[in-house]
Amino acid sequence: MSNTILVGAQWGDEGKGKIIDFLTEEADIVVRSQGGNNAGHTVIVGGTKYVLHLIPSGILRPQKMCVIGNGVVIDPVAVAKEIEGLRAAKIKVTKENLMISECAHLVLPYHRALDEQRERKKGKGKIGTTKRGIGPAYGDKAARVGLRMADLLQPELFTAKLKQRMAENNAVLKALGAAPLNVKQVTAAYLEAGKALAPFVGNTVVFLHEALKAGREMLFEGAQGTFLDIDHGTYPYVTSSNTTAGGACTGSGVPPHRMDRVLGVMKAYTTRVGEGPFPTENEELSRMLHGMGREFGATTGRARRCGWFDAVAVRYAGMINGIDEIAVTNLDGLDGLESIKVCTHYKLGKKTLEVPPSDFLQLEKCQPVYEVLPGWERPTHEAKKFADLPKRAQEYLRRIADLSGAKLRIASVGPNRDQTIVL
Ligand code: GDP
Ligand code: IMO
Ligand code: MG
Repeated sequence: MSNTILVGAQWGDEGKGKIIDFLTEEADIVVRSQGGNNAGHTVIVGGTKYVLHLIPSGILRPQKMCVIGNGVVIDPVAVAKEIEGLRAAKIKVTKENLMISECAHLVLPYHRALDEQRERKKGKGKIGTTKRGIGPAYGDKAARVGLRMADLLQPELFTAKLKQRMAENNAVLKALGAAPLNVKQVTAAYLEAGKALAPFVGNTVVFLHEALKAGREMLFEGAQGTFLDIDHGTYPYVTSSNTTAGGACTGSGVPPHRMDRVLGVMKAYTTRVGEGPFPTENEELSRMLHGMGREFGATTGRARRCGWFDAVAVRYAGMINGIDEIAVTNLDGLDGLESIKVCTHYKLGKKTLEVPPSDFLQLEKCQPVYEVLPGWERPTHEAKKFADLPKRAQEYLRRIADLSGAKLRIASVGPNRDQTIVL
C-alpha cells in the first residue's frame, strides 16, 4: 500500500474505523492528524467491539505503529483512560506501538466547561457538539494561548501556565453563570495523566520522516467528515479542525508530495449527528435504521439523523479532498428497501445546483432532486466478492461511484473485517 489519506466524505461516522482497521493490514504506521476525542471509531474484531476516540484504530493490530500527530487536540486524562481500557481488553499499548506529538494541544476542563456553556447559551441555535471541549481548545491554539503536550511534561512550567489560564477562564465561566474550576484539582489530575503519557511523547515529525526514508507505508486516519471541516463544511455547524485531506499534512508534518492516494469513505446512505443543514434527511429512513438498532453515535450515544445518499455533497468532497477511490460502507443497511433514492442535484428556487452552496442558510433551502433506483430486497451481509452481491446492489454501487466521480475500491456489507469486498 502507498501512503494513503483516508477521509470521511460526508458528515462523519462513515465507517472510517472499520475501513482503517481493514487497510492497516497492509500499512506500517497509522497516523491521526486532527480532531480529538469527539471522534468515535468503531472496530469489531473477533466479535469484540472497540470504540476508539483518540488512539488510532491501527492499535488493534499489534505489529503496527500508531502516531497521534501535532494537529490533534488531546485530553490527557481521557487518553490515559482510553489506554487503560485497551490494556484491560488485552490490547498492547506501549511506546513501541504508540507515539504522541509533543506539539499536540491539550484539551483542559475549562474547554469542556466553555463548550457546554456556549451550547447552553445558544439554546435552539446550538451546534450540537460532543461537549468534549474541541472548539475552545482549537480556539486557544489559534489565539496562541494553548498548552501543549510538551508543557505537560514540565510540571513547574505547566503548573504556572495552567494557573494563569485558569484565572482567565474561571472569570469567563463565572460570567457565563457557571461554577469556576478548582485549580489544584485540575493541576493534580493533569500532572498524573502527564506521568502516564510521558513515555509516548516525542517529536512525531522526525519519527515520521525517518519512517518515510525507510520506505514504511502510512495510513492517515481521518476523523469527522468533509462537511464538518472548519473551512469547507456547513459552517458554523462544523467541528474546529480541517477534517479534509490537507489536514493530514498540516496535522502530521508529512508533506503533500509524499501522499500517494486519497480514499474517501462514505455510507451507502447519509447520516449526521448534531444540528445543521442536511438536504436529504428522511424521517422514514431514520426510523427504519434506528429500528434495526443502527445509527446511534459511538461517542455520545445520540441517535444519528439519516437520509438518502447525497451525490452533490460527495462530489464536492471529491473536489476538496482529491478523492481517487471510495469505500462504500453499510450497504446492508438498505437491504430491505423496495426502492432507493439518490440525490443527484439540488434545486434552489429556479436554479439547479451541482455543488452545495457555501452558506448554510442557502443549503437549508435546497431541495434535493432524486433519482430512484430499484432495491435488491435481499441480504448482502454474506457477500465476499462483488459478484456475490445481488445485481441491483451492484448497480446501485456503480451508480453512486459514477455520481461521486471516483473509483469504487471497497464495499462493506457488515461491521466485521470479513464483511469487506475489495474490487
Ligand atoms: P467512524 O466514526 O467513521 O469510524 O464510524 P462509526 O464507528 O462512528 O460509525 C459507523 C458504524 O457503522 C459503526 O457502528 C460500525 O461498526 C458500523 N459499520 C461500518 N461498516 C459497516 C457495514 O458495512 N455494515 C454495517 N452493518 N455496519 C457497519
Ligand atoms: P467521527 O470521527 C460525527 C459533530 C458533532 C457536532 C459538530 C461539532 O466519529 O466521524 P465538536 O464536538 O467537534 O465541536 O462538534 O461535529 N461531530 C461528529 N459527528 N462523527 C464525528 O467523528 C464527529 N465529531 C464531531 O456532533 O455536530
Ligand atoms: Mg464515529
